[in-house]
Parts: sequence; structure tokens; C-alpha cells
Amino acid sequence: MLTKENLEKATALFTRYPEKKAALLPILWIAQEQEGWISTDMMKYIGDLVEVPYAHVLGVVTFYTMYNDKRLGTHHIEVCTNVSCMLRGSDKILDTVEKMCGTKLGTTSPDGKFTISEVECMGACGGAPMLTIGEEYHEHLTAEKTEQLLAQLK
Ligand code: FES
Repeated sequence: MLTKENLEKATALFTRYPEKKAALLPILWIAQEQEGWISTDMMKYIGDLVEVPYAHVLGVVTFYTMYNDKRLGTHHIEVCTNVSCMLRGSDKILDTVEKMCGTKLGTTSPDGKFTISEVECMGACGGAPMLTIGEEYHEHLTAEKTEQLLAQLK
């Protein structure tokens, strides 16, 4: 469930759109900011709120990589492996991230500190190769820079 304050923010969005379901994406974002991820129960709750079936909400959450349908580690590291980043060595960046975080792509480290995901172009191709930690972009990476960056989070 959304908190009282977030429910007010969510329902206020309904006035901006002709149909409640048009507010689905921003309401999912509110939910994710509140919980850190979007659970099945939250998807059902939001589906009822915007009057669409759970399957529709699930489809949206699993389509967009910005929504998390699993609980994440303290630090969510997203490594871009699309063309520009790949050509500039994203495989080495990903290897370094896995080594430093002690976990593999698509998983969370046993201590719950790091979750590693792969993403398709974060719109920072000029700074390739790059990754994000939460909402922070880190560009022009090398394996060494990546090690230094992640060492600060340990
Ligand atoms: S290809 Fe990596 S940011 Fe665009």
C-alpha cells in the first residue's frame, strides 16, 4: 500500500489525465520510491487504484528496466552493454563490477549490498563505457576507475 501522503500524490495525478490508467507509470514510480521496488501486492493495489488488471501492471513493470520487480541490494549497479559501451569495453567493466561486488549479473550479493543489472543504452553514449549506481551516472570508465568507484561503497 502507498502511504497516506503518497496516495494523495498518486490520486492528485488523476486530474492531469483523461483516464486513471494514464497515471500508471508515475504512480508506479511513487511506489518504487517508497518501497525501493514494486511487489506483486503493490502491483495489484495500483491496478485497483488505476482500474486496470494486475496483468497489465505486471506487463508495464517488467517491460521498463527502470522498475524493479525484485527487492534490490543497497546499491543497484546498472552496467550499459549496448553498442557504444560494448565497443569501448563494457565487458571489462562488467567483469570488474562482478568481481568487486562478489556477485554475478542479475543477482544480489549475499550481504545484500549490491545488485547488478545490465541495461540497454542509458543515453550517455558519449561517455561510454558507463554504469549507474542508483541515479548517479559514472562515465568514461576503465577497469581501474570502476574498482576505485566500487571500493568507496564497501
Ligand atoms: S550505449 Fe551505453 S550509454 Fe548508450
